[in-house]
Amino acid sequence: MSLSIIILAAGQGTRMRSAIPKVLHRLAGRTLLEHVYTVAASLNTRGIHIVYGYGGEQVPHLLSHLSASWIFQAEQLGTGHAVKQAIPGIRDEDDILILYGDVPLVAKTTLMALVEAASGPGFSLLTAWLGNSYGYGRIVRDEQGRITRIVEDKDADAAERKIAEINTGMMCVRAVLLKQWLDRLNHDNVQGEYYLTDIVAMAVADGIGIHTTSPTHRTEVQGVNTRGQLAELERHYQLQLAQSLMDRGVSFPDPARFDLRGELDTGTDINIDINVVIEGKVRLGNGVTIGQNCLIRDSEIGDGVEILANCIIEDAVIGNRCRIGPFSRIRPGTRLAEEVHIGNFVEIKNSSIDTASKINHLSYVGDSEVGRNVNIGAGTITCNYDGANKHKTIIEDDVHVGSDTQLVAPVRVGRGVTIGAGTTITRDVEPDLLIHNRMERRVVKGWKRPEKGKKNAEPKK
Ligand code: UD1
Ligand code: CA
Repeated sequence: MSLSIIILAAGQGTRMRSAIPKVLHRLAGRTLLEHVYTVAASLNTRGIHIVYGYGGEQVPHLLSHLSASWIFQAEQLGTGHAVKQAIPGIRDEDDILILYGDVPLVAKTTLMALVEAASGPGFSLLTAWLGNSYGYGRIVRDEQGRITRIVEDKDADAAERKIAEINTGMMCVRAVLLKQWLDRLNHDNVQGEYYLTDIVAMAVADGIGIHTTSPTHRTEVQGVNTRGQLAELERHYQLQLAQSLMDRGVSFPDPARFDLRGELDTGTDINIDINVVIEGKVRLGNGVTIGQNCLIRDSEIGDGVEILANCIIEDAVIGNRCRIGPFSRIRPGTRLAEEVHIGNFVEIKNSSIDTASKINHLSYVGDSEVGRNVNIGAGTITCNYDGANKHKTIIEDDVHVGSDTQLVAPVRVGRGVTIGAGTTITRDVEPDLLIHNRMERRVVKGWKRPEKGKKNAEPKK
């Protein structure tokens, strides 16, 4: 039996109060729809069909990397109408799994069990007990416990509203059956919509038994209707992610104060302090420690690296046993070899820094190549930008750059050079020189500071 999947994602999500279609809101850095797509794609499926509508082409445009067929539902006339739009692209012999674009955390195992349950009768339904069933369709069963129909919250009477078993909306139905039933749907109900849920009563009338299954955890079936619900799911999901990182050898003093918005690949014995955010694709080697309040995006961090508090690292490769921070900004295109030290208020951009070099205080190094064992003193600036173009600074091995030095690029400083503090380097420097261009010391005796309302002149030397 082949499986086709339909994801319903055409709704507006009125209660989000947003110009952005609901399914494009993000959970852990990824859109809700991508979460659903990812679990769908992890199943063995013949094809994924996504029904979109509200917000128009925004949705397929932003998510064009998904391998799905996109079906436009111009008017949102109900879940039954939505499924019907996708039906022509699906073969009769397939089983169709229906998922919702705004229910992001459903687990693969739950869906596999749901699909398995449909293999006999051709119809299975995922139901749940949530404590509060307000807003959900209720599962109506007869005395023998067999499902007879689903009644929507808005159509239910007082007794039906008391039913605790709810419809999660997710179901698996044989295409040949679903096609017949969809053709018979009407919109004769309180909301004037074509309810997909009405196919349950039709199945019962046609003598098709319906198997029900349930999720392991209720958050799997929780939908996002409000920003509050989105935040709730975010916290839940982040704790899950932190838990699985702990299982892989990462320690957190407080796993509730950690955010992963992407993919994190880790070694063992990693310590991550509070309020650390990881975005994009990040790799952390063995024995890495990260201090409070750091953001690391799309970077590779080597073994034994120590990142002190309040650092931002983006698109960078950090070699083994480097030490960074506190308060360092490592910008895209930075490559640090091993045992490099970058200290406070230092910004590095698009530069490579070779082994054991140190840039410890208040410096900007951009578009540069820095050799081994170089020491860059406090307040050093590579002047890489002339207002129109960026230029390169090359500092060879064993150079000692004094504090408050400007290196006006393009420029090369030869191996072993010592630059005196306060120097402006505008031309290449040959190896092994001492160079400085400090002004001669000037002393003015008897100098009087200017006073208001008086004519002041510098005394003659
Ligand atoms: C639906 C179910 C209800 C269930 C609940 C679970 C129906 C009639 N009711 O109700 O039994 O308890 O989900 O959350 O199915 N959508 C479209 N096109 C449409 C209408 C909806 O794509 O024309 C999509 C929405 O974007 C959403 C999903 O279908 O992803 C569910 O629609 P929604 O209107 O939220 O259904 P509920 O009223 O919550
Ligand atoms: Ca609705």
